[in-house]
Amino acid sequence: PVIYFVTPTYARSVQMAELTRLGQTLSSVPSLHWILVEDAPRCNPAVGQLLRRLAIPFTHLASAMPSAYKKLKIPPRGVSNRRAALQWIRSNIKQGVLYFGDDDNSYDLRLFDEIRDTRNISMFPVGLVGEYAVSAPVVHDGKVVGFYDSWPARRRFAVDMAGFAVNIKLLHQFPNATFIYKAGFEEDSFLQEIVTDANFIEAKAANCTQILVWHTRTVQVPMAMLQPPTLRIADTSISGLL
Ligand code: UGA
Ligand code: MN
Repeated sequence: PVIYFVTPTYARSVQMAELTRLGQTLSSVPSLHWILVEDAPRCNPAVGQLLRRLAIPFTHLASAMPSAYKKLKIPPRGVSNRRAALQWIRSNIKQGVLYFGDDDNSYDLRLFDEIRDTRNISMFPVGLVGEYAVSAPVVHDGKVVGFYDSWPARRRFAVDMAGFAVNIKLLHQFPNATFIYKAGFEEDSFLQEIVTDANFIEAKAANCTQILVWHTRTVQVPMAMLQPPTLRIADTSISGLL
């Protein structure tokens, strides 16, 4: 099966670095289609160029966060773009495996071998999430029986976006399942719509004992510090050395 790897992304100083790193990871994965969705009114041509250079199958979309949500203290990040990806998959793709991979996470190539045979919904640990440093399903006798996560928040599925994969047949079986605009509850709301008794959760990554994806976050240096230091150097004694 083809893996449809959905990445929401938005313009900021580190975006090209993130997309280059992620794109080069994805170019080592066979049978993968990258759906990159910008949180913007239209696609950035520079991002399109990067996608073409990588020479992997891709779909480049844009879907901006509605302005009402931008004013919130904690905006629901990546929701509008992930919804656009769901819509694109539902109209164009019949089968395959869907995975939501943010642009700043770090992915072990073995993750793709694990999720590729997802029959319904698979789950696995994500490193560097929250205060416990890992968010992971709790597995007993091969079955997912609970969640180890520092932010349970009364969620039925206390998992990170990077901690599950879905067989695309479920998107067609549950045509209304989507992400809600509520920060922190996106995963739970989506999974509650598609998990039934019949499609039990498959525990991956050696019964959820291995970490194959990390919720890394890139520090953004203030823009002023990215300016070339020419003026400052000219003002100091270092300039004599140049
Ligand atoms: C965590 C989870 O890992 C996300 O999957 C989840 O969407 C997010 O929390 C949330 O609940 O808001 P976190 O690292 O805190 O993610 O958030 P970011 O990495 O900043 O954003 C998640 C994704 O959305 C990234 O791929 C980012 O590029 C994208 N994003 C972020 C946008 O498309 N627009 C934005 O304004 C901000
Ligand atoms: Mn992130």
